[in-house]
Amino acid sequence: MAKQLFIKTFGCQMNEHDTEKIAGVLSELGYSLTDSPDGADMIILNTCSVREKAEYKCYSDLGRLLELKKKNPDLLIGVGGCVAQQEGGKIVKKAPYVDMVFGTDNISDIPKLLEKKVETSKGRVSTERRRKGLTLKTEKVSSLPVLRNHPMMGYVNIVDGCDKFCTFCVVPHTRGRERSREPEEICSEIRGLASAGYKEVSLLGQNVDSYGKDLGNNVDLADLLHMINDISGIKRIRFITSHPADFGDRLIDAMVKLSKVCEHLHLPLQSGSDRVLERMKRNYTYPEYKEKIRKLREAIPDVTITADIITGFPGETEDDFNKTLEALEELQYDSIFAFKYSKRPYTPARLYEEQVPHETGKDRLNRVLEIQNRITLKKNQACIGREFNVLIEGESKRDKGNMTGRTRGTKIVHIPREDDISAGDILTVRITSATLASLKGEVIR
Ligand code: SAH
Ligand code: SF4
Ligand code: F3S
Repeated sequence: MAKQLFIKTFGCQMNEHDTEKIAGVLSELGYSLTDSPDGADMIILNTCSVREKAEYKCYSDLGRLLELKKKNPDLLIGVGGCVAQQEGGKIVKKAPYVDMVFGTDNISDIPKLLEKKVETSKGRVSTERRRKGLTLKTEKVSSLPVLRNHPMMGYVNIVDGCDKFCTFCVVPHTRGRERSREPEEICSEIRGLASAGYKEVSLLGQNVDSYGKDLGNNVDLADLLHMINDISGIKRIRFITSHPADFGDRLIDAMVKLSKVCEHLHLPLQSGSDRVLERMKRNYTYPEYKEKIRKLREAIPDVTITADIITGFPGETEDDFNKTLEALEELQYDSIFAFKYSKRPYTPARLYEEQVPHETGKDRLNRVLEIQNRITLKKNQACIGREFNVLIEGESKRDKGNMTGRTRGTKIVHIPREDDISAGDILTVRITSATLASLKGEVIR
């Protein structure tokens, strides 16, 4: 029987996609995925380090895994992802029963690590035991076998790493410098997906607007979108995440011209206060950000816009914070992800004086969510009576009587299940009701 592998994914889409690669590499070694840790032969935590809570979850999960290891001493435990990258051998110090630590760049090394483990049978293996975390590779990202989680929507890395070094963010330290993949390599992966029946691709990068800068072949994200738009079989193209300092006219133009590029932009604002944005080293002002949104909406009136917000950044005053609230009212996002600032290792902001008390940050987060929830609900309700193009993703998780899909603007839509509707169909749906989280509708035949 195939050896059973359980992987827990903690982080962003790139982290999810890494899980698909870890599964791909291990499936070539005879492992098959299971959805429960009980009874698994190998358990991998693919960790996230973006906020303290996520890192903490990695350690509390490891505690629980010790119990499983006591029951089954042959169980192999691996830790990958951004916490592994950041902590390296420190993980093995804290949890000596961990067999394998690999970073965001070492997925291709997993077979070697396992082999070494078998050879030395000393219990644990990690690529390096340096206290500062694992070394990031600087060479080009290679293609790895991928065991995809979804049969018709595929993640495709276009640029790894980040050079922005926002003062709160650990990602440049866990993912390293920006490295773009060659356009031909990306297109060939997407052609492969198209011939396997994939309908939608999401192009991934911590900063997709930087795509191509390091390649020196004058191909930017807009050019890449043009190339992908020509691949037959693919119906929808998404890209995430854009950076407000780099997002601009060429991309807006590509979004307007290219029929497959979805009308959605995720453009993290972080704060509405220029003073805070400057201390975050975001390289844009609120008026500049607002102007880009204005242009985008002028070009694509129906575009869905989402963002990330941080509350309680060191030095954020009540006045600064009110500017964030005003920005939410002014920009009218379809939805946002909001986070309370969290101190991260290696980042300059952790040393800033005037850290905002936990309670204040939490209170501000609640006020942000209160305002945005009202806006999101209003925006969703405004969809009632309108018709949308919906790509069906599968059975609804909560209600087996429903199927779930997404609009081009990423809004979730539930429709009643019918025998002739299956995952991968693209249907016209009229919206009949709306909540904060999703829309409901009926298929127009
Ligand atoms: N590359 C993307 C995603 C970065 S991480 C980008 O630049 O937008 C996703 C979000 O996590 C960020 O946009 C930010 O809002 C949030 N985040 C990052 N570091 C954080 C920290 N230290 N505390 C709280 N939120 C943080
Ligand atoms: Fe982090 Fe800033 Fe890079 Fe985004 S752009 S990954 S927030 S450093
Ligand atoms: Fe987390 Fe790493 Fe993604 S820190 S958000 S898994 S890049």
